[in-house]
Amino acid sequence: MATSVYIHIPFCATKCYYCAFNTYTFHKEQAKAYLQALRTEIALYAPETDPLQTIFIGGGTPSILSANALAQLFNDIHQHFQITPDAEITVECNPGTVDSEKLRVMQDNGVNRLSFGLQAMQDETLKQLGRIHTVAEFLQSYHLAREHRFENINIDLIFALPDQKMDAWHHTLNEVISLEPDHISAYNLVMEETTPFYEWWQAGELHLPTEDTEADMFQYTIDTLTTHGYTHYEICNFAKPNRYARHNLVYWNNQPCIGLGAGACGYLNGVRYTNIRGIAPYISKLSQRHKPIADTEHLTGHAEKSETLMLALRKREGISLEDYQDRFGEKIEVAFGSILKKWIDLRLLERTPTHLRLTPRGLFLANEVFVELM
Ligand SMILES: C[S@@+](CC[C@H](N)C(=O)[O-])C[C@H]1O[C@@H](n2cnc3c(N)ncnc32)[C@H](O)[C@@H]1O
Ligand code: SF4
Repeated sequence: MATSVYIHIPFCATKCYYCAFNTYTFHKEQAKAYLQALRTEIALYAPETDPLQTIFIGGGTPSILSANALAQLFNDIHQHFQITPDAEITVECNPGTVDSEKLRVMQDNGVNRLSFGLQAMQDETLKQLGRIHTVAEFLQSYHLAREHRFENINIDLIFALPDQKMDAWHHTLNEVISLEPDHISAYNLVMEETTPFYEWWQAGELHLPTEDTEADMFQYTIDTLTTHGYTHYEICNFAKPNRYARHNLVYWNNQPCIGLGAGACGYLNGVRYTNIRGIAPYISKLSQRHKPIADTEHLTGHAEKSETLMLALRKREGISLEDYQDRFGEKIEVAFGSILKKWIDLRLLERTPTHLRLTPRGLFLANEVFVELM
C-alpha cells in the first residue's frame, strides 16, 4: 500500500533546450484524451492506496492545463483517493501559465504547495534556455500565487549554465531570496544526451563554466541560503523551517509511491515500475483498462539495500543507522563495510552517533560515492 502519489502531466508550451523530461508540445485535444486515460489509471490504482499523505502533480507543465481540465483532474483524484486532512499537495507551475482562475481551482481542491520553475533571473539567459517566460512574467505569477494565499512555494533554479559568470548566479540567488520563497531547489545543469543543449555542446557551440567555477557556485549557494535561514536538507534542496518537501522525502527514504501518467515511475510492493512514455500508446493501453507499465524491477536483496543507502545519502542528515537496521534486519556494515570504510577514510563520508552522511567535501563528489555503492 502507498500513501503517496505522483501524477505526470507530459505537456509543455515548448520544450526547453536543456530538458530531457518526458514531455511533449501541448495540444488541447490530446490533453483531453490523456486526462481521460489518467482517470482510468487513477481508478486502477486507487485500491492500492491508504489515505494519501502526499500528492505531487508534476511535469511537464501541469499549469498549462485549462482551469476546467484541472478541475476535472482534481475531481478524479478526490473521487478515487482518500486524502488525509494534512496532506501535502503540490502542483508544478511554469511562470506565465497560471492565472487567478487556475489558482482558485487548485486552492479549492486542497493544493497547498506550488513549485515554480524559474531557473535564472536574467531575460537573456531565459531566452538562451528556451524558456517561454521573462523575469517579469515570473514575478507576476509568483505574486499572484501569494495573493491567492499560497503559503508554501518552491522556486527551481539551475546554475553552471553556458557562459554563466559567478556574478550572474549571485544576482539570481539574491533576487530569489529577496522574494522569500519557502523552498529553493538549486540544480547544477546536467547535459542530457537527447537535448539540443547536448548537441550544441558537442559541436563546440556551448561553453560551460569550469568544474572549479561550478563548485564555487555550489558553495556560494550553500553559504548564502543557509545564512538566510534555509536549511540545506538535501544535496540540491533548501527549505525554511517546516517546509521540507514531504513528497520528495518519500523518494529519498525509498518508501512506496504510486506513479501515474506517461513515463511516470512508481515503487509499490517492492517493485519499481516505469510507465510507457509515449502519449498515444499510454492512452491505448488504458483504453483496454490495463496498467500502462513498460518496465518493472523487483527491488530485493542487495539492490534494495544499495538504493535505500544511495537515496538516503542525498539527504544532508544522511541515512539513519537504526532505520536501516529495522528495515533490513542487519547492520549497514554487513553489506557495505569495506566500501564505507574507504569513503570514510577518504573523508567523503562520516558517521554521527545516529547517522552516516556525506561530509561537506563529499557533497561535491556525491556521484562518485554513489556509483560505487550500486
Ligand atoms: C520537471 S521540471 C518541471 C518544472 C516546470 N515545468 C518548469 O520548468 O517551470 C523540474 C525542474 O527540473 C530542473 N531541470 C530540468 N532539466 C534539467 C537539467 N538538464 N539540468 C538541471 N536541472 C534541470 C529545472 O529546474 C526544472 O524547473
Ligand atoms: S524544464 Fe519544465 S517547462 Fe521546460 S521542457 Fe522541462 S518540464 Fe517543460
